Amino acid sequence: MLRLFAFLCLLVISTTYEIRPIVKDGLPGFTDVTTAPFLKIGEGYYYIETVLTKNWFEAYETCRLIGSELITIETIEEWLLVNQYLKDLNIDGQPYWTSGTDLANQGQHVWFSNGLNITLDEIWYPGEPNNKGGNEHCDQMSFSKDNNPTGVNDYNCDGAFSYICEAPQPKTAAFIVWNWFDAYADCRLIGAELITIDTIEEWKLINQYLRDMKIDDVPYWTSGTDLANQGQHVWFSNGLNFTLDDIQVNQIMMEAWNTVMKCPLPTMVLQLD
Ligand code: BGC
Ligand code: CA
Repeated sequence: MLRLFAFLCLLVISTTYEIRPIVKDGLPGFTDVTTAPFLKIGEGYYYIETVLTKNWFEAYETCRLIGSELITIETIEEWLLVNQYLKDLNIDGQPYWTSGTDLANQGQHVWFSNGLNITLDEIWYPGEPNNKGGNEHCDQMSFSKDNNPTGVNDYNCDGAFSYICEAPQPKTAAFIVWNWFDAYADCRLIGAELITIDTIEEWKLINQYLRDMKIDDVPYWTSGTDLANQGQHVWFSNGLNFTLDDIQVNQIMMEAWNTVMKCPLPTMVLQLD
């Protein structure tokens, strides 16, 4: 829903200004965007349901409701990290549904989220998948008979278990707007404001990010302005005076400046450049 909203915003803004957004993977480090209810483990974003139990289909649908899918293990690193996380919290050993299934072709287990075969042989619990009773077509992880080791086990899809949802990688979209007022209005449109630099750390981190992304060769609008009292620059987002003397205040209103905005959307940050 939020992704759709953000996408629509992008579409509206980009058609208004006839520009093409540049979309990059990941969240810029300087943002305080929350990814809740998903928590970051390694490079992935997961929602771990430890209390509710659902059958595989219902678990999948529940993940879909929050814009995610049942977990897909793509690398051994991901497997180890997620297992370590469960272990650290003492919530390992109880099975969680994954997106693995052989409902389409019996004996051929795939990740339903991307259709790819499950090729990491080492993640299966010893002796699994065994299709016990001829009725096991959905794959659960953290399955354990004696709590050590844990692995993936095929099980009856109707069984009620906890589950782990995995969210898609957040993205950052960049595009151009023209003047300070337009920039501010566009930020407000998605519930954000032009950037306000509260600390010197934030200032440094943003600049580092712009350098890393090689997009530091153009100016960006901030929420700073002295429109109310000439000569008295404040952050328009909170009305506070500029107190970080190290920051070069951009005093001249130019056309075609770029914009950085802080956006509280959980899975997407819109950043103008
Ligand atoms: C088997 C599993 C099976 C499960 C079903 C276990 O003892 O090892 O393969 O899925 O029982 O209850
Ligand atoms: Ca089994």
